Amino acid sequence: MKKLVSHCTAFVTLAMLTLPIGAAHADQDDSLYRALGGEQGIQQLVEDLLFNVADDRRIRHHFVDIDIVRLHEKLSEQICELAGGPCEYTGDDMIKSHTGMGVTRADFNALVEALQLAMDDHQISISAQNRLLALLAPMHGEIVNR
Ligand code: HEM
Repeated sequence: MKKLVSHCTAFVTLAMLTLPIGAAHADQDDSLYRALGGEQGIQQLVEDLLFNVADDRRIRHHFVDIDIVRLHEKLSEQICELAGGPCEYTGDDMIKSHTGMGVTRADFNALVEALQLAMDDHQISISAQNRLLALLAPMHGEIVNR
């Protein structure tokens, strides 16, 4: 009996240790991912962001001679993952990606504007827009003046 009790205790402890991991996964908040239109919506959003960037005289010079297909893919993955979607970002870290580029605070703000324009065009709600911007804003330290 004593052995059974200790066996049960071990089982319960194991269950308590493993449950939160599964529960966290099941409860993952993907509401922002869904508000952005899921994987397809995010890919279209990033495409329009890059079109807006190409139209923006203030920052388009940064994007000449780069692999734009790769940038589209990596940025889409990154936004999808940040928004709680089922994606994994497989690109380089932000410091490595932007070092030597001389991105200024004004450049960063211009890119944010380009994203806001794209989100307006996609009729993303203001609250979802603000949630995404709040996730991206802290990255400025890894991108600006590198
Ligand atoms: C929140 C803001 C930003 C985010 C989330 C972001 C994200 C990214 C990502 C995911 C990549 C691809 C990394 C890879 O290839 O593995 C990248 C590359 C790049 N980013 Fe940014 N970025 C931001 C701001 C900016 C700004 C403000 C500029 C310039 C105005 C910029 C210019 C570039 C360029 C030119 C590349 C391509 C580098 C290359 O392929 O050589 N980024 N960025």
